[in-house]
Amino acid sequence: MKTEFLAEYIRHPKTVGAVAPSSKYLAKNMIKNIDFEHCSVIAEYGAGMGIFTEEVIRHKKRDTKFIVIERNEHFYKILRRKFAKCHNVFVIHGNAQNLRKYMKKCGVDSVDYIISGLPFASLPHDISDKVLAETRKIIKESSGKFITFQYTLFKVGLFRRFFDIVDTDFTLKNIPPAFVLTMTS
Ligand SMILES: C[S@@+](CC[C@H](N)C(=O)[O-])C[C@H]1O[C@@H](n2cnc3c(N)ncnc32)[C@H](O)[C@@H]1O
Repeated sequence: MKTEFLAEYIRHPKTVGAVAPSSKYLAKNMIKNIDFEHCSVIAEYGAGMGIFTEEVIRHKKRDTKFIVIERNEHFYKILRRKFAKCHNVFVIHGNAQNLRKYMKKCGVDSVDYIISGLPFASLPHDISDKVLAETRKIIKESSGKFITFQYTLFKVGLFRRFFDIVDTDFTLKNIPPAFVLTMTS
């Protein structure tokens, strides 16, 4: 799993943005602010090999719809193999900035939680801006949450242009260790 991930990083360093998949400790931290009891729709950006995806599927209610978006074809095929048969899980080969289009296909008009593995530190600025602006419009006002991880806090200013940061946590057991930021609109 780790060498496969590294191979994709070598092919697409800026969009993959990490040399190894996240740890299960980071995955647990990414979902800790999700209220699975009161949640109709969750989306995930940049699922990679599905470490956060697995954790969401383990906790989500059967009726909760889960839209999983990955732009890398190799990772998409792995995700599809692992999760496409899971109930109410929609694995999409596409771009996070087009979430609204995928929502229509899945028959949903708003999203409670978006978790993101996107490498905002290495993505082009215009792409980050488009994704964040669109995310802000899509998540439910005040109750919706956008949750992402970052290896440093250099990009906090970028997130503050779009969201209020309501929780910052840190996971040491990850390579490299990572901050988890939870935001509301
Ligand atoms: C840092 S990796 C995180 C992978 C996984 N979530 C994890 O934590 O192990 C970033 C992922 O985002 C994907 N990605 C980058 N830009 C994307 C975009 N615009 N839309 C969807 N996925 C994207 C990459 O292909 C890669 O799988």
